[in-house]
Amino acid sequence: MKLLILNGVNLNMTGRREQGVYGTQTLEDINAEIAAYCKARGAECEFYQSNLEGEICTKIQTSDADGIILNAGAFTHYSYAIRDAIASVNTPVVEVHMSNVHKREEFRHKSVISEVCRGTILGFGKNSYILAAESFLL
Ligand code: DQA
Repeated sequence: MKLLILNGVNLNMTGRREQGVYGTQTLEDINAEIAAYCKARGAECEFYQSNLEGEICTKIQTSDADGIILNAGAFTHYSYAIRDAIASVNTPVVEVHMSNVHKREEFRHKSVISEVCRGTILGFGKNSYILAAESFLL
C-alpha cells in the first residue's frame, strides 16, 4: 500500500501561520509522524506540497499511489481544476482539513472537491491526516 500525502497552498507555512488554528508543529514534523504511523502498518508514504494549483493537478494525474490524502488548503473552496483532476483518475482521494472548517468563516463551509472524494476528515488537527491514512489501512 502506497499513500500520497498531498498538501496545497499555504500548508508549507504550518507551524508558523495561525498557530491557534493549525498548531505549532511544522509540516515536516507532521509528515514525519504520518510516515512513522504508516511504516508501522506496512504502508509506504510519499509527501508533496505545492502552492501552485496546476502542480497539484499534475501530481494527482501522475500519482502511482493506491490512495491520496489531500489537504488542498484554500483551493478546496474554489478549485474546479483540482476537482476535475480528482474526477479524472481512479485513485481514491480522501479530503482532509486540520481545522473544523464549519466552525470558521462562511467561505470555508463550501468544498468543491468533497463530491469527488471518497470521504472527508476534518477538525482533528494533524490527526486528520492519521485518520485519513487509517481509512486506507482498515
Ligand atoms: C485548511 C482549511 C482551509 O480553509 C484553509 O484555507 C487552509 C487549511 C485546514 O487544514 O484546516 O489552508 O485546509
